[in-house]
Amino acid sequence: MKDINNGLLRTLYFDTETEELVIIDQTRLPGELVYKRISTARDLYESIKTLALRGAPAIGVGAALGLYACAYRFEDVTAEGFSYSFKKTCEFISSSRPTARDLFYACERMEAACGRGKTVKEKLAELRKESFAIEKENIEVCHSIGSFGEKLLTNGCAVITHCNAGSLCAVEYGTALAPIYEAASNGKKVRVYADETRPLLQGARLTCFELCNAGIDTTLICDNMAAGLMAAGNIDIAIVGCDRVAANGDFANKTGTLSLAVNCAHFGVPFYVAAPSSTVDKSIPNGSAIVIEHRKPEEVTEYFYKDRMSPAEVKVYNPAFDVTPASLVTGYITENGVFNNKEISEFI
Ligand code: MRU
Repeated sequence: MKDINNGLLRTLYFDTETEELVIIDQTRLPGELVYKRISTARDLYESIKTLALRGAPAIGVGAALGLYACAYRFEDVTAEGFSYSFKKTCEFISSSRPTARDLFYACERMEAACGRGKTVKEKLAELRKESFAIEKENIEVCHSIGSFGEKLLTNGCAVITHCNAGSLCAVEYGTALAPIYEAASNGKKVRVYADETRPLLQGARLTCFELCNAGIDTTLICDNMAAGLMAAGNIDIAIVGCDRVAANGDFANKTGTLSLAVNCAHFGVPFYVAAPSSTVDKSIPNGSAIVIEHRKPEEVTEYFYKDRMSPAEVKVYNPAFDVTPASLVTGYITENGVFNNKEISEFI
């Protein structure tokens, strides 16, 4: 199951026979396509933490469906006990990763849904309805981003992207890759250069996997090759995803996005960010307030946790994300249209 019509995989779904969340374990791609069933808070937390479930929108939708699957199994008989357990579970899941706004957006919506029910039965019904709504909205948002972003792509153009913001970062279709899928389905020929995205290679492993599966002309590059390609005039446009957008339009995305944006500014390549409203955080005035996750040194010193590449005693700096200032953004592709960096604060 779970192919959508153009051959893309569905990243996650809810099994209504068992009331479990089912995800593709993204740590196993591209070598193996393994599905993982989630119905406990520990499994949900670990899946997000280890990046089995990753990419901002997928984390948000997965958290919502996973929280409902956990709540379905609560043994609390009173409404108060149920609400308390749900609140604690939301706090635990929210502590899995700090940067992507979608995780907190989903937990906040689910907690509000829990509050709308008076009895345990009503609370469960509200949680089920809300998690399904979050999933459906995400699918619609990604398709809208695809339609608006597609207009930026001309026949034969070359797009560069960083990390994975495709179907694997959402339920399906994705954000930054949605315009590419939409352009391809409209008969445009689009070439994609995919940054490998060190340290965990989401570009090499995931973006190349899904683009090649979809029959898109894809070239893998090391992250440090982008400037050379731009200098040679080989890139027409950059499109990336984002994990959190501050009120002034600064945004956090996978580490290395900032370098790409600086390169684009230097070489005059338009730089776009696909930004669904679930990533917007109005409470944060600018990018300096975005909490950046730092991850284990082994992600840098060992090749995908397998072969040691550096001396054991070396110090390691491993922020999972960096912040790109709004001044470097040509446009934000949202579900409501494309906005430039002067307009975005109004949209937000
Ligand atoms: O650490 P990851 O793989 O979860 O990081 C993912 C990214 O940085 C994506 O570009 C981002 O979540 C946007 S996905 C629409």
